[in-house]
Amino acid sequence: MRIIATENYEAMSHQAANIVASQITLKPDSVLGLATGSSPIGLYKELIARYEKGDLDFSKIKSVNLDEYVGLATTHDQSYRYFMQDNLFNHVNIDVANTYVPNGMAADPEAECKRYDEVIRSMGGVDIQVLGLGHNGHIGFNEPSDVFHLGTYLVNLKEGTIDANARFFASRDDVPRQALTMGIQSIMLARQILVVVSGEDKANAVKACFGGPVTPSVPGSVLQLHPNVILVADKAALSKL
Ligand code: F6R
Repeated sequence: MRIIATENYEAMSHQAANIVASQITLKPDSVLGLATGSSPIGLYKELIARYEKGDLDFSKIKSVNLDEYVGLATTHDQSYRYFMQDNLFNHVNIDVANTYVPNGMAADPEAECKRYDEVIRSMGGVDIQVLGLGHNGHIGFNEPSDVFHLGTYLVNLKEGTIDANARFFASRDDVPRQALTMGIQSIMLARQILVVVSGEDKANAVKACFGGPVTPSVPGSVLQLHPNVILVADKAALSKL
C-alpha cells in the first residue's frame, strides 16, 4: 500500500485527481468506481477543471457507483444519483447511459443487487475504485459486521452513519435507514483502489483500517489485503496512524 500525505483537503483532492487523471489518460475507456460524500467532492471539482481545460476526455469512460439509499428517487437532492449528476456527470462529457448507480427505488431490492453485480461484471470490472472512509471504518455502506459481504446487498445503516449523514437532510428522521451497497468482494476486485480521507475526525478510522487487525468489524481494514491501494490523506487524518 502507498500513502500520500498532504497538508489539507485541497492538496488531497489535487493528488487524488492526478491519480484518476492518469488512469483516464492511460486508458480512455476506463471503468471508474465512484463514491459520494464530502471526501471526493474536491477530487471531482479538480477533474471537472481539467476537463474544462481540455486535458481530460470522459467520452469513453464508464462508471459504477458504490451505493444508493433505499427509497430515494433519482430526483431527490440527497440521492446518490443526484449527487453524481450534480458534482460530476453534468459537468463533463461522460455519456450518462454509461454511468451506473444502484436503483434505490427497485421494487425487488434483491433482484436489483443481482442486476448490479451483473452490470459490474459485464463492464469487465472496475479499473480504479474511489473510496471514502466512514467514522466507523465503513467503505461503501459496508457497515461493521460479523462477516465480509460479497456482492451488492441491502444493508441496514448503523445509528452512527444515520447521525453522520443527517447533516445533509432537513431532519434526522428523513435519513433513509437502508441502502444498497457494493459488497466487499466487489470493492476488492477493483484493479486499483484510491482512498481519500481528510480531517482529524477520521483519524481513528484511518488507524483502525490501516494500522489494526483485518476484521469485518472494521470493514475498511480489508483493504490491507488488496495489492494496489493508494491512501491519499491529509495530515490530520493520518495523525494517529
Ligand atoms: C459514499 C460512501 C461512504 C462515504 C463515507 C465517508 O458513497 O460509500 O462510504 O465514503 O461515509 O463519507 P464522507 O466523505 O461524507 O465523510
